[in-house]
Amino acid sequence: MTGKKVLVVGSGAREHALAWKLAQSPSVHEVIVAPGNAGIAGIARCVATAADDVRGIVALARGEQVSLVVVGPEAPLVVGLVDALNEAGIAAFGPSREAARLEGSKAFAKEIMREANVPTAGFAVFDDADAAEAYVREANRPLVVKADGLCAGKGVVVAKDTDEALEAVRVMMRERIHGEAGARVVIEECLLGPEVSYHVVCDGTRYVPLAAAQDHKRLRDGDQGPNTGGMGAYSPPPVVTATIERAILSRVVEPVLATMTARGTPFRGALFVGIMIVDGAPAVLEFNVRFGDPETEVLMARWKGDVLPLFEASARGDLTGVMPSWEAPHALAVVLAAEGYPTAPTKGARIHGLDAIEDAPGVVAFHAGTRERGGAIEVAGGRVLAITAVGSSLDEAASRAYAACDRVHFEGMQLRRDIGWQARGSS
Ligand code: AMP
Ligand code: GLY
Repeated sequence: MTGKKVLVVGSGAREHALAWKLAQSPSVHEVIVAPGNAGIAGIARCVATAADDVRGIVALARGEQVSLVVVGPEAPLVVGLVDALNEAGIAAFGPSREAARLEGSKAFAKEIMREANVPTAGFAVFDDADAAEAYVREANRPLVVKADGLCAGKGVVVAKDTDEALEAVRVMMRERIHGEAGARVVIEECLLGPEVSYHVVCDGTRYVPLAAAQDHKRLRDGDQGPNTGGMGAYSPPPVVTATIERAILSRVVEPVLATMTARGTPFRGALFVGIMIVDGAPAVLEFNVRFGDPETEVLMARWKGDVLPLFEASARGDLTGVMPSWEAPHALAVVLAAEGYPTAPTKGARIHGLDAIEDAPGVVAFHAGTRERGGAIEVAGGRVLAITAVGSSLDEAASRAYAACDRVHFEGMQLRRDIGWQARGSS
């Protein structure tokens, strides 16, 4: 047998995009995805092992003799999947459990930022609800209340007044709506400005800067409605100028990598820096220790050529000589979400029109919550598809993506019509 076997862990549109790109690598003979989804099954072999089943994933990787495991979501990273794989002698792309605390604990991330002198919102950490409430009353200004632990993106409340902040402290610390993740909270000063995502791939000391992207977190057009996992993204966002990009690298990425190394927990894998641009300078909102979703869809769509060497070099701990490689100048992804998303998504609606966009130029339909039943593809989760298109301009990418969205339909389908509004008409 020639060529390598790679295992991708996860089941969203992010993992579809990673598997799609890896499957095109001339060195890859087979991509396996655990557990995958109906769309991923079209380009890779799906195995029904859950992403957070650490023993199951290690056994699968060993049994299949894969040469690399690429871990998509944060939950398995935070519980130590990469450590377990490495102990079994299997190369893996992603941080160790200790390094994954940058996402797994918001208080830890703040401590690292303080130590590394990274620009971020002022903050205080509380283990005691009475003390947190006293702080909120005393502050008497807009605050952001964050549960310390992982909450699948639901642990942050941007409170417009003291009552909302007190309510957030009460439900997190007293009612424990997020369980132990809310036993400790971080209370931050509220920043204002455009938000962007910046990704770097790290090997512990070195890094390869990928491009910036901009997610759209609110459900409805005009940034209205509830927060979601992300309703669409585009790359590159012009708000990230060369000066801002240099500041992100020199004031955030480099000091954080140096601090993690100095602590004996070097960071490897994808580091996603969530940034707010405040008065022309970047301030960090959060770190994620994995690729963003839907940011990955636009980054992989733009990437030129083989992505395997990037992930292999990071896993090996030596990115020397690996350069970022862009082909498409612009990409844009529109998420098609299920009826009732994000609060109570409805499953089971049949999805129509996917074959009609298979050959659309520059368009890929990355699947997230889909499953196959009786030969048809149906809705199986909140975010269903991420229709992604590349273009020589952002407008071209947007018109291709939306033309494709207009051919796909399922009962109750929700989408935003204004993805990329910040930059459309300008490129
Ligand atoms: P996080 O998970 O920390 O990124 O928070 C989720 C969302 O809350 C972010 O994408 C921002 O929109 C918002 N947010 C987080 N921290 C702040 C802050 N200090 N000021 C204003 N908004 C924030
Ligand atoms: N798109 C935001 C995230 O992946 O966390």
